[in-house]
Amino acid sequence: MAVRYQIRGSSAADISASVEAGVRTGELPPGAALPPVRTLAATLGVSPATVASAYRTLRQRGLVETAGRHGTRVRSRPPVAGTRAARRLPPAAGLCDLSTGEPDPRLLPDLGPHLRQVAADLPAPASYRDAGTWPELAALGRARLAADGVPVTALTVTSGALDGIERLLAAHLRPGDRVAVEEPGWANLLDLVAALGLEAVAVPVDEDGPAVAGLRRALASGARAVVVTSRAQNPTGAAVSADRCAQLRSVLTGYPQVLVVEDDHAAELSSVPLHTLAGTTASWALVRSVSKPYGPDLRLAVLTGDEATVARVEGRMRLGAGWTSTLLQRLVAALWQDDQVAAKVASAREAYDRRRSALCQALTERGLVAYGRTGINVWVPVPDETRVVAALREAGYAVAPGALHRLGTSPEGAIRITVSPLDEAGIGPLADAVLAAVSGRGAAHGV
Ligand SMILES: Cc1ncc(COP(=O)(O)O)c(C=O)c1O
Repeated sequence: MAVRYQIRGSSAADISASVEAGVRTGELPPGAALPPVRTLAATLGVSPATVASAYRTLRQRGLVETAGRHGTRVRSRPPVAGTRAARRLPPAAGLCDLSTGEPDPRLLPDLGPHLRQVAADLPAPASYRDAGTWPELAALGRARLAADGVPVTALTVTSGALDGIERLLAAHLRPGDRVAVEEPGWANLLDLVAALGLEAVAVPVDEDGPAVAGLRRALASGARAVVVTSRAQNPTGAAVSADRCAQLRSVLTGYPQVLVVEDDHAAELSSVPLHTLAGTTASWALVRSVSKPYGPDLRLAVLTGDEATVARVEGRMRLGAGWTSTLLQRLVAALWQDDQVAAKVASAREAYDRRRSALCQALTERGLVAYGRTGINVWVPVPDETRVVAALREAGYAVAPGALHRLGTSPEGAIRITVSPLDEAGIGPLADAVLAAVSGRGAAHGV
């Protein structure tokens, strides 16, 4: 993306502040290319080392990334709240937005009755003294995790899975440390890792989870932590199978000091069982979010792990945010105990399974390759993703470009299609549009 923003400054600090200001105001939007080091140095009349130092600082803070011959660019979600960029543009009229990775709001349980019940049952407003992990939620969380074979001893509550993962990485790693992540992987995690100043090491994924050889390579390269998505891997839909779990465990046994983080964000929405790596190494944690089955705005996840790791997370939280509101904890406990809510979640699970399988089948019938074993997304390798994304937009569909999910090391293109907004009738026309976009036959109007 060519951008005309004048970066200013005569020192590394001024130059990086100028770039940051451009990101904040939206004049350097996500994906914007920064000038090559030598070009900017000549423009500003400073040494290349000064510009290189500014770019390095920006990279360590996760604002920009450098991808070989593509040069240095603003990351897709830099850790600076933009004044203009932060305002989300509504999707263009008539566009079917399949780019979000969000659950279908129609399939989420209605929170109203439980909110009213929580309000009615509140003994008194909680004080600082009463706050923390609410025992009833902890007991329910333990039982649910234990039923899935997770060896729960210590447990705490965080503001969602990503909050838990951030706290875990901060508790064990220091800037510059390596962390093994899935590739393709969840864009928000890749951005978080960059913002923490950690170095992501790619572990390829297939439908059964992280590749064994890839994990072995990442660990041999010095990764101090590994983040694995248990089920509904974003973007590929992979889920760790029983065999893969055993193989990954056997590799991890050789690295007892590595922190293993499992992200079970799909939780009750997943139709395949959990196969956990919990307890293979001394430091481990499994985070289970309620965002996908019950609603992203609940901002809650339960986090279990070895005692030292959970104590670090909880102890650090006490010094900052303190705890996850007990109002939210009570609400989730109420949802977890309601049979009607459980039935609604089960029917959501079936609906996602149907939409995903139908889309995968429709794409396969048209000669395309599609992955989507679990979850709410379908991952479609395509030859030139920028062109395919643009052609699909012309045809009335927004999809996510694969680049958001890569570390930049893979030359292969792909798109991610979120099935949440799709109904049965929409699947055939969408598959036709994808085929037309891939084969360059111009726009097929499907919406
Ligand atoms: C892999 C993965 N983990 C976690 C989440 C959600 O986590 P949170 O609990 O922070 O909402 C998502 C949401 O898309 C995801 O794709």
